[in-house]
Amino acid sequence: MEEKKRETWGSKLAFILAAIGSAVGLGNIWRFPVMTGNNGGAVFVFLYLITVAFIGIPLMLAEFIMGRYSRKSVVGAFSIYNPKSPWRLAGYLGVITGFGILSYYSVVAGWTIGYLYKTAIGEFSKGVNPEYTKLIFQSFVSSPFASILCDGIMIFLTIVVVIGGIKEGIERWCKILMPLLYLLLIVIDIRALTLPGASEGVKFFLYPDLSKLTLTSVIAALGQAFFSLSLGMGVMVTYGSYLSKKEDLLNSSIWISGATALVAILAGLGIFPALFSLEGVTPEEGAGLIFKVLPNIFDKIPLGRLFGVTFFLLLIIAALTSTVSLLEVISAYFIDEKGWSRFKATLFTGAITFILSIPSALSFGGAKIFTHLYKGEGVLVILDLIFGNFTLIIGGLLISLFVTLNLKQEIAKKELNLPEKLFKIWYLLISLVVPLGIFLILVFKIYQLISS
Ligand code: TRP
Repeated sequence: MEEKKRETWGSKLAFILAAIGSAVGLGNIWRFPVMTGNNGGAVFVFLYLITVAFIGIPLMLAEFIMGRYSRKSVVGAFSIYNPKSPWRLAGYLGVITGFGILSYYSVVAGWTIGYLYKTAIGEFSKGVNPEYTKLIFQSFVSSPFASILCDGIMIFLTIVVVIGGIKEGIERWCKILMPLLYLLLIVIDIRALTLPGASEGVKFFLYPDLSKLTLTSVIAALGQAFFSLSLGMGVMVTYGSYLSKKEDLLNSSIWISGATALVAILAGLGIFPALFSLEGVTPEEGAGLIFKVLPNIFDKIPLGRLFGVTFFLLLIIAALTSTVSLLEVISAYFIDEKGWSRFKATLFTGAITFILSIPSALSFGGAKIFTHLYKGEGVLVILDLIFGNFTLIIGGLLISLFVTLNLKQEIAKKELNLPEKLFKIWYLLISLVVPLGIFLILVFKIYQLISS
């Protein structure tokens, strides 16, 4: 029935690349440095890597199992046994989180479009310094017209790719351009690491200062692991649902997680040494961090302008393969559960996202109310805290509970097809370590909030 009609990936490589495409994006190149800077440097980096290995990979497997077994997107996968079951709500949470993340992610992705333009017209070739790059950033993000325009372009591009469907749309974009991104990051690293003062940055990024270890940094690292691997809202459920039965899930998820974490590390190894070699920027720069730092580096690379243009172009594409995965989850819900055509579902969800994204686009000075919403933070930062951290973690908790409490163990066994010992390790992680870890962290956080 269902099975025959559902599209599947053209090849295993195409699937892996699309999943890496979803995972690798602004989360690793923009968000990871921001979080590392705000949460004490190397301690955060190690927490992130540990979480990727022991929580991220088991959870990614759980999402693949749910998707491939049910052949449904996230809401359908949660209610596979009983369409009226309350688990359905967990699926809705995924769809809502998708809207939430996409609505601000597209704004930051829009900034990269703006920076591509600025670099191309040579705005950073006139002798840059951090003071100047800070000013440029501020004036760009506070312009309502520029922010909304770039945000709109990003959402439009996403809609076009998602309407194309998984084969024509998503696969094609990921194949050639991803490897180039790694190459460019390595060039940035080499330049940054050879700048005077770089060693301070390396120290900040790689030598943990345990006094910086706090509950907040643990939660931030957990959220970052989910965000960077696109976990907790059903992207990997949806992508898994297009996956043919013969692919090896463990092998795939190790590749995907490794490739993604590598991008984050490469980005950090470029940003922090560069940052410490500059006067006047600190690790706690917040959402503008990479936009304030990177143009200074491009200036110090031969053919810097061309290099910068290529870099921002690749960053846009990396962001696009991520926004595509977010919109795909939301529209797959309307396609699978409401029976809408792909065209209608995508256009509708894309339009809603654009409307929802406007407050974020105006939250860095464009409009006062959106700029100082809560404790001095704007809409974009608050949405990132809620949807990029909190609901993803809850989503992850629900997925781990669903797979262990609801799905028969035989199903997981068959889908994973692992030696008994490895299966037992996975099962221990997903049934105990993941839910208990997330649960305890949430309880501590709530306790902290109440007692403060
Ligand atoms: N992982 C992507 C990035 O790092 C962002 C992303 C895409 C995402 N799909 C997601 C984050 C689903 C959380 C959930 O840029």
